[in-house]
Amino acid sequence: MDSYDIRGGERLSGEVTVSGAKNAVLPILAASVMIPGETVLDNCPDLADVHNMCEILRHLGCEIHWEGHHRLRVDASGVKGCSVPRKLMKRLRSSVFLAGPLLARCHQAVLSAPGGCAIGSRPIDLHFLGLSALGASVTEREGRLFCRGTRLRGTPIHLTYPSVGATENIIMAASMAEGETLLQNAAKEPEIVDLQNFLNACGAEVSGAGTEEIRIRGVKRLHPARYAVMGDRIEGGTYLMAAAITGGDVTVRGLNPAWLSSELSVLARMGCRIETDEGTVPDGGDGWIRLSAPPELSAAGFVKAEPWPGFSTDLQSPLMALCTVAKGTTVIEEAVFENRFQCAQELKSLGADISVEGQRATVTGRANLHGGRVAAADLRGGAALAIAALEIPGETIIENICHMDRGYGKFDIVLKELGANIERRETHGRKTSGETTGISKE
Ligand code: UD1
Repeated sequence: MDSYDIRGGERLSGEVTVSGAKNAVLPILAASVMIPGETVLDNCPDLADVHNMCEILRHLGCEIHWEGHHRLRVDASGVKGCSVPRKLMKRLRSSVFLAGPLLARCHQAVLSAPGGCAIGSRPIDLHFLGLSALGASVTEREGRLFCRGTRLRGTPIHLTYPSVGATENIIMAASMAEGETLLQNAAKEPEIVDLQNFLNACGAEVSGAGTEEIRIRGVKRLHPARYAVMGDRIEGGTYLMAAAITGGDVTVRGLNPAWLSSELSVLARMGCRIETDEGTVPDGGDGWIRLSAPPELSAAGFVKAEPWPGFSTDLQSPLMALCTVAKGTTVIEEAVFENRFQCAQELKSLGADISVEGQRATVTGRANLHGGRVAAADLRGGAALAIAALEIPGETIIENICHMDRGYGKFDIVLKELGANIERRETHGRKTSGETTGISKE
């Protein structure tokens, strides 16, 4: 397994353009299964999770071609299967997004438990309650989920929790159901708006995404379209936090600053100067955020990670890393996933002062973190370890970075361009930074 070797202490400066958003492209790729013909996705991120989703689509009969690193052509004309093998399901959490689209296209889907980061129990009950409300029957046998629905019908659905994935699965299935679905207490994340925009570009009739009430009028068929995936706000937020811990000055381009409003207000509270421009296009493609960090960060006070528009749970671990060196005490509450403080133990092994009680972590900043050997337990926890390492003058080695490859396409290359001293090493010791993203190509 590859590792990052980071010698911190370098001040980051410069500009970076974010990739397309992982959390937007994965449901969009799943939705492409419903659309006979060739869907063309621009700004598609080159990530392990995207390659894994493509492998599933191929298995189902789609033809997939990359044009360069960021344009993906998905031709779903020949979809013939509706069953995803266990070993492909296990590769990523988002494999469960195929339930709705396969039901819509093939009237059945055979799936099993999805994989993904171990950040909580992550049940999928809300996905299937929603699909059942639309008229699908879902049964479980020997660990396989058999979904059938020859005639999906629109209906009012109230989610007991605004799950991002369940909202997306229901929108996709309902977009080809008979009649209208009113989805209440829906998740409001920007990636849901992106899914709505993609589906509408393909002829669907979805409105209200970004609010808690989404209306989906089912259509008989969808047609292919060319679509540019929104920028990755989590990747952008990660690089801003990396800049902040080094006292740096970094501009992140290719995203709408409104997608990070909670996170930017926390960074401003910590003493960072923030300038933003929403740009001129609705998808934020020419928007930017500039962060100029003070010589010493202040504590963030109290921060609660919660559904949009609250502070993103995906940036909670990177924030924890920042707080380990910020003057004063920060209390972080994690209200989305029950096991998202895994990086705390590793940060403590680098000298951080963190105590965790249930869903609350108390972090007191100190000046003397030291290098060491740590391991990423999950995607964003790995990013947190890298952020801490950027501040530490000695050497820090981060192992298990396969988790990070799922969400950051060229982490080391970007940080190097901003001035960081980071090398990617393969297990047998050969340096690979700058030569490859470490992601196996299709
Ligand atoms: C998505 C994002 C992930 C982000 C999360 C919350 C993608 C590919 N991933 O994950 O990066 O951290 O949103 O913003 O978009 N839950 C249930 N039953 C369900 C579904 C979820 O109880 O059927 C619970 C989960 O266990 C969790 C909470 O709801 O505690 C939030 O999960 P959800 O919003 O569904 O997140 P994901 O879609 O898995």
